[in-house]
Amino acid sequence: MGNIDLKKIYLDFFEEKGHKIIPSSPVIPENDPTVLFNTAGMQPLVPYLKGQPHPEGTRLADVQKCFRTNDLDEVGDKTHHTFFEMLGNWSLGDYFKKESIAWSFELLTKRLNIPVEKLAVTVFKGNDLVPADEETANLWLEQGISKEKIAYLGEDDNWWPNMELTGPCGSDTEIFYWRSEEAVPDKFNPEDDNWVEIWNNVFMQYMHNSDGTFEQLKNKNVDTGMGVERVNAILEGQTDNYKSSIWTDIIAKIEEVSGKKYDDEKYTTAIRIVADHIRAIVMLLGDDAKITPSNKDQGYILRRLIRRAIRYARTLDIKIDSDWEQQIANIVINQYKEYYTELDRNKDFILESLKNEKVKFNRTLEKGLREFEKITRDIQGTEIDKDTAFKLYDTYGFPIELTEELAKEQDLTIDLDGFKAKFEEHQAKSRAGSEQKFKGGLASTGEMETKYHTATHLLNAALKKVLGEHVHQRGSNITAERMRFDFAHDSKMTDEEKKQAEDLVNEYIQMAIPVERLEMPKEKAVAMGAECEFIERYPDVVTVYKIGDISLEICGGPHVSNTSELGHFRIKKEESSSSGVRRIKAILE
Ligand code: ALA
Repeated sequence: MGNIDLKKIYLDFFEEKGHKIIPSSPVIPENDPTVLFNTAGMQPLVPYLKGQPHPEGTRLADVQKCFRTNDLDEVGDKTHHTFFEMLGNWSLGDYFKKESIAWSFELLTKRLNIPVEKLAVTVFKGNDLVPADEETANLWLEQGISKEKIAYLGEDDNWWPNMELTGPCGSDTEIFYWRSEEAVPDKFNPEDDNWVEIWNNVFMQYMHNSDGTFEQLKNKNVDTGMGVERVNAILEGQTDNYKSSIWTDIIAKIEEVSGKKYDDEKYTTAIRIVADHIRAIVMLLGDDAKITPSNKDQGYILRRLIRRAIRYARTLDIKIDSDWEQQIANIVINQYKEYYTELDRNKDFILESLKNEKVKFNRTLEKGLREFEKITRDIQGTEIDKDTAFKLYDTYGFPIELTEELAKEQDLTIDLDGFKAKFEEHQAKSRAGSEQKFKGGLASTGEMETKYHTATHLLNAALKKVLGEHVHQRGSNITAERMRFDFAHDSKMTDEEKKQAEDLVNEYIQMAIPVERLEMPKEKAVAMGAECEFIERYPDVVTVYKIGDISLEICGGPHVSNTSELGHFRIKKEESSSSGVRRIKAILE
């Protein structure tokens, strides 16, 4: 079988069936602080599955950028990917089982030309809540799927997402494909690995509430999901996902910059990891959220991916100082920009952030690896103790997972519990430090300190305008004489940028904007896009300071009541504070 443009075939088909093709949402959820990444196509559509009308109507289809990072260490085999794409079509209270099944069958057998014998399905066998799904089984029979190719399974297999998670849910029917040279058996055995799941159609009828009850949703919805990488490989006759056309150009480039061959078993795993990780890094950096490498949340995953990619690139003898990562990233951007236009828009940011982190990490990596060699040479026993693991983290920037992997290669273990305890102690100390600072600030809040406090909000807002939305506060320190403001940003500010930020703050001061104090549930503040430094540390109801439409921040205060009270703002210095964090010292005069 030749190359297949699965995404195009899928989206064109559902467009013909009256669906609006919607753009993928970002990988980083826009309005859901409870998860780091979108992991399925339906995730950004939850409000509409719950009944809110969607502006594009009741039939939607898309290809969604998804991320799953719980099995990062499994990446390197034939089938796992950090980033993947999910095709989906939805009915929001429009069609239900009959059309969904008929169209899935038509697409698979008529457009993708899969012989009907190679298909099998599972349907829900029923539980206390819902009876066995005979309707779905009958609809499959009508399409021509034989009785022997229909299996009835329980809620572990045919309920999505599962009985525990809250949110919209329902029974589903999964479609399997016979991926083997051997003759297709007459009877479908879902336990046989040659039957591979290719598509999941969920009949999303219930809302699972947090009190444990299930109630009927306003609408009967359909939610389907098809993993592009897996199905593309299957349709192209490959058992190794990385051999499908999706990866051809990316792997060819890695072969070119490394001089190693994918088919040389010594290098296959490393090439897969570099390919997977660079693609994932591009997708993460490409989001308009402008995440940068950090020690927290998505930024931490990003940092781990970059560092892991570099480490495996080294095992392929790639010259880390060369522009290998830019070349691979460019291939990814070009390959995906048709569907994800943000990649083109954010191209410079992607390439620069990747390069900056590479340069930074590579500087300490060599030293760290030498240190690691020394450790393993001198080690007594087979365990790396907590202090050593912590030193590798703290001094050499080794994510603990990297130390774990290096240790595994040498048949060593790590005192992981000891490391975790030490790590938490360290976090608690710096937390106590910043709380102390905060309290201290409050205790001695005179008139000047209050003004500086408001000035930090204005500066935060101004920096976002000048440098981009990736700017977030990472710390501040205020005295009666000056303010210090730390924020996430990767490179030195130019004189021009400093001047623009300064001028903007002064403009906000001149505008004489009232400063309002509001109280609201934390979720609401987050949903409104309020800035905050340590979301997990705030109570359920928070104080939010709003300065016109310039600034919205969760903050204990106190603040002046009008920006005009601040006088004139001047930046005295801009410097590096720590990795990925810049520091501004400024005064009011
Ligand atoms: N939401 C369903 C899945 O991800 C379609 O499998």
